Amino acid sequence: MIKVFQSLWNKKQEKTLPSLSKDNVPSHVAIIMDGNGRWANRRGLPRIVGHQTGMKAVKRAAIAADEIGVKYLTMYAFSTENWKRPKDEVDFLMRLPEEFLAIELEELIEKNVRIHMMGHPEDLPPHTIAAMEEAISRTRNNTGLVLNFALNYGSRRELKEAFRKAAEDIAAGRLSPEVFTEEWIDSHLQTSGIPDPDLLIRTGGELRLSNFMLWQLAYSELWFTDIYWPEFGRDHFYQAIAEYQRRTRRYGGLS
Ligand code: IPE
Ligand code: IPE
Ligand code: MG
Repeated sequence: MIKVFQSLWNKKQEKTLPSLSKDNVPSHVAIIMDGNGRWANRRGLPRIVGHQTGMKAVKRAAIAADEIGVKYLTMYAFSTENWKRPKDEVDFLMRLPEEFLAIELEELIEKNVRIHMMGHPEDLPPHTIAAMEEAISRTRNNTGLVLNFALNYGSRRELKEAFRKAAEDIAAGRLSPEVFTEEWIDSHLQTSGIPDPDLLIRTGGELRLSNFMLWQLAYSELWFTDIYWPEFGRDHFYQAIAEYQRRTRRYGGLS
């Protein structure tokens, strides 16, 4: 019986995939997962139910990305500005990584996914860091999709820290101003070793970056949708990829 369902499921996948080219899959997709609160409000539910339901969308996006051959998937889970929210909501959000990993880590390990985190861990509660560290260490040798959680991440803080390090190194004579290049900056950001996003997706209808990867998104393709994050599924993900594949990236040159 399970076999029958599996083969039906595979058939369904075959139907969606052919419209996407296997040759032009974005290597790095970054997602601003927005709209959890509004999704819940619409249903007369507390905002945290939106966050809880949004966890399932994280899993769907990771599976969809892995299936199509995306190498890096960065998920904006909590910004340096999200501390402004009511304490109850922040506390709930800080519990979500461990809840997500308790449910999904085994399957992610099976799928050869490597968990990564960027952000400023020094402000996170110990239980959140412990869950992330365990997931990072248990998936360290995996070679498949890199699932990168941006947790307490803020692009301006990331840039400020890199620039401060440069200033200190220059003042101490460890770095000459000539070596302070774009490559130096790249290698001192939280994304060091990870290519810039090819595609940015933002759900929830807002048309802004909200302090997300300001340096790294310089030439990324942007795709916005009104869909609230808890409703985001595999088909939306592939819709974004299909749109990406229709675009021509020029990087300031001529096509
Ligand atoms: C995104 O959903 C999740 C986080 C920012 C943590 P929101 O909580 O921002 O939901 P809306 O934008 O208020 O609907
Ligand atoms: C961006 O969403 C941050 C995350 C998705 C984690 P916000 O809901 O915080 O963004 P603003 O406040 O609408 O710009
Ligand atoms: Mg929001």
